[in-house]
Amino acid sequence: MRVLLGVTGGIAAYKVATIVRRLMQDGHTVQVVPTPGSLNFVGRTTWEALSGRPAPSEIFESAPGVEHIRLSQLADIVLVAPATADFLSQLAHGEARDLLGNILLATAAPIVVAPAMHTGMWQNAATKSNLKTLRDRGVHVIEPAVGQLAGEDVGVGRLPEPDHIVDALYAAAKGEKIPTTVDGDHCWGDLEGVRFLISAGGTREPIDPVRFIGNRSSGHQGFALAEAARERGALVTVVAANVFLPLGENISRVDVETSVGLAREMREVAPDADVVIMAAAVADFRPVTVSANKIKKSDDGRLTLEMEQTEDILHSLVKARRPGQTILGFGAETGDENADVLEHGMEKARQKGADLLIVNPVGEGIGFGDVSSRIMILDGKGQQVAAAEGEKMTLAHAILDAVVELRTKGGKKKGSKVRGWVGGAR
Ligand code: CTP
Repeated sequence: MRVLLGVTGGIAAYKVATIVRRLMQDGHTVQVVPTPGSLNFVGRTTWEALSGRPAPSEIFESAPGVEHIRLSQLADIVLVAPATADFLSQLAHGEARDLLGNILLATAAPIVVAPAMHTGMWQNAATKSNLKTLRDRGVHVIEPAVGQLAGEDVGVGRLPEPDHIVDALYAAAKGEKIPTTVDGDHCWGDLEGVRFLISAGGTREPIDPVRFIGNRSSGHQGFALAEAARERGALVTVVAANVFLPLGENISRVDVETSVGLAREMREVAPDADVVIMAAAVADFRPVTVSANKIKKSDDGRLTLEMEQTEDILHSLVKARRPGQTILGFGAETGDENADVLEHGMEKARQKGADLLIVNPVGEGIGFGDVSSRIMILDGKGQQVAAAEGEKMTLAHAILDAVVELRTKGGKKKGSKVRGWVGGAR
């Protein structure tokens, strides 16, 4: 395999020498392309000596050969390690500042990046958004490890061990999922190893072969929760009801259409889950019979459908809950003449028996799709413990903060304050 190995300017660049060694030992050809800045950390001679070939950095070094195009076409796979926050930003924005940037714009080969940076930079909203863009484009991201950083700080952002990176590269080359932990080298996260089961989207209940009763749920919030949980180290399974969105890597996805299908899949996986989140909008009613043929217009200009109530999946999951399992429900509310959104939400929280109920106002233009929203987080007694506002990813992290708080010692303390929550505890 011909591996094009980009090295960007981080202190962890020294570890990449071991990666070149291992790839060469495994019989691969390695073309190192260091960025000019990275040469402050490891010099060109090291790369050339280890790989046995020139290690160019600048686009103008060999203009006659149109080096960036040649190299981009030669690569079977591209690995960038360490990938700095600045480099991820360049890649996300399609910038081509140096030879590596040009190659990455031109190549059709799979791209694997191994980010390494200070925790603050890793957790910065700009970096998160750049990573999301890259993941959505199919770039494979090897999650950084937790440990000693460049200075005295300890946290997430360390370049994982070279063997882990090489294993992940081989997995990506075969089109497999990238392993998240190797030999106890744990990836970041306060949800490390916690098994999440998340439903997303909206069910469709067939009327006849071409028609169905559906709802406006897009699946954005459920998918954001899945990706945020994964980012924090969880093992995530998503049951997606009619969601037409890509899902980040290393998340298992099961697609369903109807409430019956959703109930079946949730029941199947729930016994093994530590946290179950019912973010899907489930139809409350479905036609009693599904016509085998397309229903024709009638002479009297009317159609009457007999409907029956569907299973309340959240209720069934709560009834079957095993000790230690945390269950979350959503309450999409509009408010009416009897009660406002929060009052309806409080009532629902008390009825549903879930540990947390996420109340979100919905309606024309609010709550659905990839838009900024507002949520209130209630406990099982209907007490508001927090509220948050923002993009779906921001809300997802606020919800996960609540899960972490609930699952850690003292988390169920009344009135405890949770990091990042707008509004705080009541
Ligand atoms: N839910 C479910 N099964 C159903 C209906 C809803 O599991 N058949 C779950 C949803 O996934 C959500 C929660 O119950 O987590 C609340 O859903 P919502 O539609 O807001 O409330 P309903 O229980 O349907 O009550 P109502 O429509 O009367 O407000």
